[in-house]
Amino acid sequence: MAMKEGADTGGKIANPRGLPLATNFVVDPADNVTGYKSFQAGSFSFRRDEYFAYINTPTGFHTMPVDAFLRALMRDVAWGFFYGTVNFDQVFGTTNYYGEVDMFVGATNEAYVSAGRDFVERFKSDELMAIFKQMVSDWTNEGYDPFAAPMETGVPWGVKNGDNDEAVSRERVTARRMVGLKGDTPVRTDQNGYPVNRMFDDVKQDAPEVYAEPGFEHEVSAFNLFAYLSRSDVTWNPSVCSVVKDSLFCPTSEEYILPVEHGNDRCEWFITLSDEIIWNIKDGATGRPKAVVRQRAGDCACMPADIRHQGFSAKRAMLLVWENGSPKVPDLIREGKAPNVAVKF
Ligand SMILES: [Fe+2]
Repeated sequence: MAMKEGADTGGKIANPRGLPLATNFVVDPADNVTGYKSFQAGSFSFRRDEYFAYINTPTGFHTMPVDAFLRALMRDVAWGFFYGTVNFDQVFGTTNYYGEVDMFVGATNEAYVSAGRDFVERFKSDELMAIFKQMVSDWTNEGYDPFAAPMETGVPWGVKNGDNDEAVSRERVTARRMVGLKGDTPVRTDQNGYPVNRMFDDVKQDAPEVYAEPGFEHEVSAFNLFAYLSRSDVTWNPSVCSVVKDSLFCPTSEEYILPVEHGNDRCEWFITLSDEIIWNIKDGATGRPKAVVRQRAGDCACMPADIRHQGFSAKRAMLLVWENGSPKVPDLIREGKAPNVAVKF
């Protein structure tokens, strides 16, 4: 679920709705009462107050609790709009076309679509991202970390009170080959700022011993993935930890709720490495419920390319997300040249 650095489509950008690019962006000054700035991107406007985020479009007005909005916005920013669709809730979200992005209300909600209340505009990804980054920075108060589990952070409520740019500008992990290799993303230790999380006190912290043949010392490496994940300081943030061509291992630690309903644009393998995660699976286009998947340690599932999913984890769990990062996959699926499922029984 996390993307390689610089992933792109090789020049061709799909635009299934044939939308023109919206180019107007405005950052409005801080409100006299709440202290928060408001933002405009195309025909969308965004405002927050003590409790809520408000999204206004030509077809309607949408309200979200600001904690849920900020947690989702944080993922959309950190993941660079991610693969496919990021539904902040059942109404608002973004769909990534890798270089350009559709922003919508109601477009993945069949009731909104059938009532003609859906609205979609298209943006250059870097231009919309600039607005989103300013929004998550301005709307996040001191002491609140939208990446953290709710029991491990402060609260997002109230009028403007400082900021937490250190938290909201975290660099996501994107190993070029593998965590722990020379010159690549380092393993996590107490010394580099990653103590073992309170829920993973029982995870062994030993490291594999590597005895390379002479001459291969720089080509052989190993690390303890469980120990690595036990030291993650964020939740629901899959990070690229190993790369073999387009095969990406993106492990992550999960606690509370995946802050978005992720609408896949490719198949996605989930291997639960510890504890338990419950997944609500819905149709990607309409939001109709399709399945509930309860995955315990050792269970493996493959999410089809045409669904959306949201996970729930009462006890911090480790999840390995395995992605095919090829930029060709979404078009192959749209054109019917690749299947929506990875295996047929
Ligand atoms: Fe996903």
